[in-house]
Amino acid sequence: MIVPMSMIDKLTGRMTLAEKLGQLTMTTSSYAVTGPVIAGDSTDSIRNGTLGNLLNLVGAKHVHEMQRIAVEESRLRIPLLIGFDVIHGHRTIFPVPLAEASTFDPKIWELTARESARETAADGIAMTFAPMVDVSRDLRWGRTVEGPGEDPWLAAEIARAKVRGFQGADLASPESVAATAKHFCAYGPVTGGREYASVDISERTLREVHLPAFAAAVRAGTAAIMPAFTDLAGIPLTAHKALLRDYLRGELGFDGVIVSDYNAIRELIQHGVASNVVEAAVLALKAGVDIDMMAGAYRDGLPEALERGLVTMDEVDECVLRVLRLKERLGLFDDPYRRGSRVEAVEVVTARRRVARDVGGKSLVLVKNSNDALPFRADIRRIAVIGPLADAWREMRGPWAAAGYEEPNVSVLAGLRAALPEAQVVHAEGVAISSADTAGIAAAADLLDDGVEVVVLCLGEAAEMSGEASSRAFPELPGEQRALADAVLERAATNDIPVVATLFCGRPLIVPWLAEKADALVVAWFPGTEAGHAIADVLTGRLSPSGRTPITWPRALGQTPLFYGQRNSGRPENPQDRFTSKYLDSANSPLFPFGFGLTYGRFAYTNLRVSAASATVEDTIEVAVDLTNTGAREAEETIFMFVRDRVASVARPLLELKGVTKIALKPGETGTARLQLAAADLRFLGLDLKPVFEPGEVEILVGPHADPARLTTARVMLQG
Ligand code: NOJ
Repeated sequence: MIVPMSMIDKLTGRMTLAEKLGQLTMTTSSYAVTGPVIAGDSTDSIRNGTLGNLLNLVGAKHVHEMQRIAVEESRLRIPLLIGFDVIHGHRTIFPVPLAEASTFDPKIWELTARESARETAADGIAMTFAPMVDVSRDLRWGRTVEGPGEDPWLAAEIARAKVRGFQGADLASPESVAATAKHFCAYGPVTGGREYASVDISERTLREVHLPAFAAAVRAGTAAIMPAFTDLAGIPLTAHKALLRDYLRGELGFDGVIVSDYNAIRELIQHGVASNVVEAAVLALKAGVDIDMMAGAYRDGLPEALERGLVTMDEVDECVLRVLRLKERLGLFDDPYRRGSRVEAVEVVTARRRVARDVGGKSLVLVKNSNDALPFRADIRRIAVIGPLADAWREMRGPWAAAGYEEPNVSVLAGLRAALPEAQVVHAEGVAISSADTAGIAAAADLLDDGVEVVVLCLGEAAEMSGEASSRAFPELPGEQRALADAVLERAATNDIPVVATLFCGRPLIVPWLAEKADALVVAWFPGTEAGHAIADVLTGRLSPSGRTPITWPRALGQTPLFYGQRNSGRPENPQDRFTSKYLDSANSPLFPFGFGLTYGRFAYTNLRVSAASATVEDTIEVAVDLTNTGAREAEETIFMFVRDRVASVARPLLELKGVTKIALKPGETGTARLQLAAADLRFLGLDLKPVFEPGEVEILVGPHADPARLTTARVMLQG
């Protein structure tokens, strides 16, 4: 059978080498700087056909002008692919990814990605470098904020929902953008939590913990994947043939575009695996990288590599075809101006802000609420809002605000004032986020006079203290914030005023003292554009909190990496026995376990049951548990389903997450939460790292979070 030549094959046949390499090159337009600025004006290269892709350009007018040059003035009239980092919103900024993960709600993950895609596309852009699905178990690593937290199951769920949301049902739609799952892979376990450092983990951890999210993104149809900057046991991911070509393209069948990270191909020289740009380009091309972002290594290195026979033209063409196919799938050949041709209606933008407020509220994690300090009484009349994050609207956006710079973000102070028009809200910053100046502390404490009914203490990191290149060796409250907190807590105790601490952070912070002394503690992460309203919604009780931490909070940095899915070991912790796995100077247990978070209700779990006492690999096990809200307020409970395989050919983790569901109940109401467990999901990687389904007993543990003491257990016998 003769397969007719596609438009793209014909086009490739007409291209010069310089034009081909242009299609494999992406450079910045300098609108937004997301790395060292190493490229100048791109207009001439677009015109002469030697540049086919841009990043960091926004605004339909600018994008369309660049497209016009490409499709009207360049010889082959190939449209540009324009990408941007839309990590948690484009202009409307949603909560940071770690905060969104805290909602444990796939509908929310998909919705915010969909809304981001519509807003991004309205700005003319066709590609986002998201979702970031790197599992992080080390809070020192700043990029923890950009990702899904510590759990592989959760990361995979988020990956799926985000790809669906960004790409929609039709990638060619003027409201869809191409997703880029990143950073492939195992970027999170960088040595010492230090950004860009080397990674060295076992093949089992790689496959069990770090690859599932990427496999999920591929199965959901992600258009692109970005390799991580890092090396894995000495092989930089940008040159990792076994993982890019054999695993991604081979095992998973990924046929989309692999786009390098910023200048990563040239950085193969610093990694120490290439001595010049020719070798670097060869390594990346051979490994399967299609687009060279910002390194200019393909343009500079591949002509010589071809001449010397180090790569073939077929290998180059393969990449060109993939890039052109993506442009075709995005509908760019049919109409390069399809994105950004319509201005979004005001109602659409307003509705999006409502989504930001709703999701912002749902991503807050209430980790302490003694004596029902929250919500505020309805007749509250005087509040003190203290701390450097209280009136810091810029910080609320978090570290990756994309194009959201001009948006009016709502500070905590503004949100509370709007929510409580009858109340007097007094405010002092006390100290700056990070400074040695303590001069303002006394005046801040002096605000706590007799009339103040509650103090909202807003503490935490500046947005830029997490994110890329933001590892911290001391992930605590920066500057003199502890001195401020101590003074406020002391005065509040003297005057009998409850303190509600609100913590802004891109990672768990080491603050056991604050958790002990504050009456209530809300982990707000960075809630985005609508931060202040979202926080006010929860503090005033308009919304009952429902967020759960997607990452374990250690008591001490020395516990790092601390995650719920550890193995038992041969000598599990026993306080009576010195020679067991524990610290001399700290408990093993976390400050807050994975999944922890309170609501304004109180839930009792009873009657856990499973549909069958035994299961084969084809079966689906129905799991049900009854819950009663014994509290005084309506609330939504998040229910976790873990499994434990106590005896297997390879020691399994103490707990493995397999499902999450939610139920909203009024005071006194009882309901049933139902979950499904496919027995096939109880397979694990055997001694040979191949999936096995081993007969024997498996425990199904259900409850409010990953503290084993709070879980109830049912048992199922697996049959081979
Ligand atoms: C570097 C970051 O690692 C990556 O996440 C991002 O997409 C690129 N820069 C482009 O800004």
